[in-house]
Amino acid sequence: MRILVTGGAGFIGSHLVRRLLGHDHVVVNFDALRYSGNPDNLSDVADHARYAFVQADICDAGAVAQALKEHRVEAVINCAAETHVDRSILDPSVFAKTDVVGTGILLEEARKAGIQRYLQVSTDEVYGSVELGHSREEDLLAPRSPYAASKAGGDLLTLSYWATYRLPVLVTRGSNTYGPNQYPEKFIPLFVTNAIEDQPLPLYGDGRNRRDWLSVFDHCAAIEYVLAHGEPGTVYNVGGGNERENRAVAETLLRYLQKPGSLIRFVQDRPGHDRRYAVDCDRLRRLGWEPTVEFEEGLRATVEWYRTHEAWWRKIKSGEFRAYYEQMYQQRLAKGTACAS
Ligand code: DAU
Repeated sequence: MRILVTGGAGFIGSHLVRRLLGHDHVVVNFDALRYSGNPDNLSDVADHARYAFVQADICDAGAVAQALKEHRVEAVINCAAETHVDRSILDPSVFAKTDVVGTGILLEEARKAGIQRYLQVSTDEVYGSVELGHSREEDLLAPRSPYAASKAGGDLLTLSYWATYRLPVLVTRGSNTYGPNQYPEKFIPLFVTNAIEDQPLPLYGDGRNRRDWLSVFDHCAAIEYVLAHGEPGTVYNVGGGNERENRAVAETLLRYLQKPGSLIRFVQDRPGHDRRYAVDCDRLRRLGWEPTVEFEEGLRATVEWYRTHEAWWRKIKSGEFRAYYEQMYQQRLAKGTACAS
């Protein structure tokens, strides 16, 4: 197919672009290249014959319309988003703009262009914190951060285009994704790169929050599978089946790096910090897809990638990221406490 991937220079987007190119698709990467969009992520495919790059924002209707027309796009996958919960607490407005308004513009242009498949990459955070059990696709949404609420807005707007216009949309709600090329504001790459530098690891609250970890390779495989086989108008949860406490993840990655547990610092919690996410993936399993990457194996390979790609993350950590890190962590770390064990 001729597929437009928005946010293709980001973490999940860049792995998806590479995967689709490997499966004979024509891929148009539509990315505004804001702070986490990184052309280095795709330097290996930049000259590929079936790859094109458009630097533009999904809020720019004219640019979207032109890209869809010029590249005769048949399918759209929307990975473009503001994605970091902590940043949404500092500045919520940009989240509503990109994740809700931008998604709306993309949907409208896709409808006008007669696109055959539109897939919205959503998140398990739209269900809110789940103390017990697993969220199913028909559960009520209860997002609790400006990020999650904005993603819920984009997710529901997408579904409305099936009900109202019969635009053949699909929604995937993925769980916490990890792997190479993830911007080091997120938990795993932040902790791995801090540990390599012998810097403290700022663990929020009691470190007992739980997440279900999904390899980026599995996540992209699921997106491609749903694009090809999903029922229009349908939501699919995508989980890794690897639920772990944050503290255990931190201890495991320190072990892989042969660094001491004393690097862990318990710091002031994230406001409104969701305790647990867990999704029921039965619908996707029945469609014929299951994850294959075992967490400890995937985490070990990820740690190894950051260990052997220092130039990639050091360039990021010395730029815009530095001011963000200081704002987010300096005071917290000064008041933090060491790990007891
Ligand atoms: O569940 C899917 C979602 O996973 C995605 O939709 C989001 O884009 C993605 O950011 C992620 O959200 P989380 O808030 O769960 O991810 P984050 O990496 O920020 O944090 C993971 C856990 O680690 C969470 O319980 C907060 C904790 N944490 C995070 C950071 C950055 C810390 O303890 N310390 C930290 O410095």
